[in-house]
Amino acid sequence: MKIIIKNIAQIVQTERKKTSFVYGDNMKKLNVINDGFIEIKDGIITNFGNMKDWNGIEDWNNIEIIDAEGGSVFPSYCDSHTHLVFAESREREFVDRIKGLSYEQIANSGGGILNSARKLENLSEEELYEKAKNRIQKIIQTGTGAVEIKSGYGLTTDSEIKILRVIKKLKKTSDITIKSTFLGAHALPQKYKSNKKAYIELIINEMLPIIADEKLADYIDVFCEKNYFSIEDTIKILNAGQKINLIGKTHVNQFNAFGGVKASVNSGALSVDHLEIINQEDINILKGSKCMPTALPSCSFFLGIPYSPVRKLINNNLPVALASDYNPGSSPSGNMNFVISLACIKLKMTPEEAINAATINSAYAMGIEKELGSIDIGKKANLFITKKIPSYNYIPYNFGENVIASTILNGKIQ
Ligand code: NIG
Ligand code: FE
Repeated sequence: MKIIIKNIAQIVQTERKKTSFVYGDNMKKLNVINDGFIEIKDGIITNFGNMKDWNGIEDWNNIEIIDAEGGSVFPSYCDSHTHLVFAESREREFVDRIKGLSYEQIANSGGGILNSARKLENLSEEELYEKAKNRIQKIIQTGTGAVEIKSGYGLTTDSEIKILRVIKKLKKTSDITIKSTFLGAHALPQKYKSNKKAYIELIINEMLPIIADEKLADYIDVFCEKNYFSIEDTIKILNAGQKINLIGKTHVNQFNAFGGVKASVNSGALSVDHLEIINQEDINILKGSKCMPTALPSCSFFLGIPYSPVRKLINNNLPVALASDYNPGSSPSGNMNFVISLACIKLKMTPEEAINAATINSAYAMGIEKELGSIDIGKKANLFITKKIPSYNYIPYNFGENVIASTILNGKIQ
């Protein structure tokens, strides 16, 4: 099956040949083709260019023509950090925070991650799958074409495995590309409150072998934070993951910078995520690595915590990726258009930097930069067509309105 998209005002983010990610000043560059066409065959981009170079149609069999009517085409967003398999929303905690309680206070009184874990325990795999599937349907409509999903609202062997099995099933049944991350070390369950060592042993000796056996995860994550998991815990868990080929993608520096970046980089992590607080040591370590710093501005927006100082990273010649952190506690939205708006408005990224960060760099942060993250011949045809917009700058500028007219994943119109 062949698809031709014609009359595209702008094809945004074309070709990143041999580029795994962009960093420093290169993040300001975004290739654009005006008045373009794209050809797709069997789910793969086979040609693109200016309308004047289009050869027209030689074979009318098995072909679908899409007229973009002056809309623009973007590669789908790659959302490299989400927790979208969860049971229920947590708007009561949201109201509690408005009334003055902090995120930490809520967590310490049994809310937060533990609250989500309690709600998830009673759901069947099927119910959880249906809820997650609906959320995926929604993020596809806002332009996401690849998503990393973490476990971490289980915190028992049964529930963690249940979440990972749901993710595995979603991988099989969705056109969206999915990567799965095991986050058993998301919080300390009540039962292990005074015996963290035993919980870490449960993760390493009971959960990881099942994950290896059933091939349930691509990556491993740890919430490395004061009152959650220490540097030593983080290293221990990441090393255990490495033994079964799970690469690290960690939660670090959300509230405190105390060595989480160094521990993650030294353990071979692919990305370090959050980074609301960054010090010079973190920057120095990242400079000598291939680890992708990832900012999650909708979490800062929702919790009212500092925004990640990404300008410092880019000015130090580093790359930055953007992701939504979609979860019920700190970012109940998986809308990457809004993430890009926040990146421009609050992180002071230019639209070019933000689009690079949400496409090619976030593709790298989930290990799929060779197949997604740009419009390039041979890459997967995961892309979206916008309504008529004046330029790509309009996406971050026009926050809150979905300008996406249609979405194609795996060469299929969604
Ligand atoms: O990435 N920081 C840890 N985990 C999530 C929040 C989890 C929750 O509050 O449910 C995050 O922000
Ligand atoms: Fe997160």
